[in-house]
Amino acid sequence: MVDLSVSIGSLKLANPIMPGSGTMAEGLADIIDLDGLGAIVLKTITPDIRQGTLTPRVAEFNDATLFSIGIPSKGPDYFLNNTLPFYGRYKAPVVASVSADTVEDFGTLAAYISAPSIAAIEANISCPNLRAHGRAFGMDIEATAGVIAAMKRATDKPVWAKLTPNVGDIAAFAKAAEQAGADAIVTGNAILGMAVDAERMRPRLGNVIGGLTGSAVKPILLRMVHQCAQAVDIPIIGCGGITNGEDAVEYMLAGATAVQMGTVNFVHPGAMPEAVGWIEGYCRRHGVERVRDLTGAMSDTHAGQPKLKVTQ
Ligand SMILES: Cc1cc2nc3c(=O)[nH]c(=O)nc-3n(C[C@H](O)[C@H](O)[C@H](O)COP(=O)(O)O)c2cc1C
Repeated sequence: MVDLSVSIGSLKLANPIMPGSGTMAEGLADIIDLDGLGAIVLKTITPDIRQGTLTPRVAEFNDATLFSIGIPSKGPDYFLNNTLPFYGRYKAPVVASVSADTVEDFGTLAAYISAPSIAAIEANISCPNLRAHGRAFGMDIEATAGVIAAMKRATDKPVWAKLTPNVGDIAAFAKAAEQAGADAIVTGNAILGMAVDAERMRPRLGNVIGGLTGSAVKPILLRMVHQCAQAVDIPIIGCGGITNGEDAVEYMLAGATAVQMGTVNFVHPGAMPEAVGWIEGYCRRHGVERVRDLTGAMSDTHAGQPKLKVTQ
């Protein structure tokens, strides 16, 4: 019997698989058993009601999706009165995700939504779809620390810092979030990108710039998880291009304690429970009794070869 449980700080998850924020909705409960997930991470909410960006919002490629949604939000009251009661009946821990226009508003929103049924709050400081050429809190190290500190002051819930990969030294941002009190690091969100429709001579997204997700980004985020894991002592949750159990195990070996699966949920809604099953089989095949022992277990050398240093 494999022990699939993992701990994200004080929070114990039945297994390491959860959705990326914004990539599942209530309808998924008709297709998979949400209690089979390690956690249920909800769509980011904002203090105000928002429409989101102009359409088209999605451009698809073979191994990646470029999207610009812009955090459409029904606001915190809808969240408390409708979204939370729906998900609150599952035994999988529910993780809220918040975003705001100012550091102070992150704190105010975190305090407002800190209902008993919420197990943790993720700070979406990394959304690349807001205006101002995609610049986000997470691209500024002081703003990153400021948001986490404001949320920690405002709520007793564990705070997860979801970093943006659109920075040079991701480990420095992870360290700043840890020092500001983050209970876990989520690495990370989508990579800024753009697509042009040559025939129509115009951008393929209404917002021009969007976020790239899916299999194509996996090597980039995997590298970042490895670097973050070397920089901080708090748990890392890997996210980026994870489509199956094998991808999840790769992230864990590179240093992640748990993982989030995003775009794949739109393509294959059964992907998350299948990944849980695959990981269990992998552990059995490799004689791993506790899935948490996979975290950081990657050997850093190939037998007989000199150890190579990763350089920036
Ligand atoms: C349609 C869509 C909506 C998303 N909405 C959010 C969101 O509200 N908040 C957030 O933090 N990330 C959001 N994301 C980012 C995902 O949670 C995840 O970080 C990203 O897609 C990378 O993972 P993937 O390659 O597995 O998709 C969204 C992604 C997609 C594709």
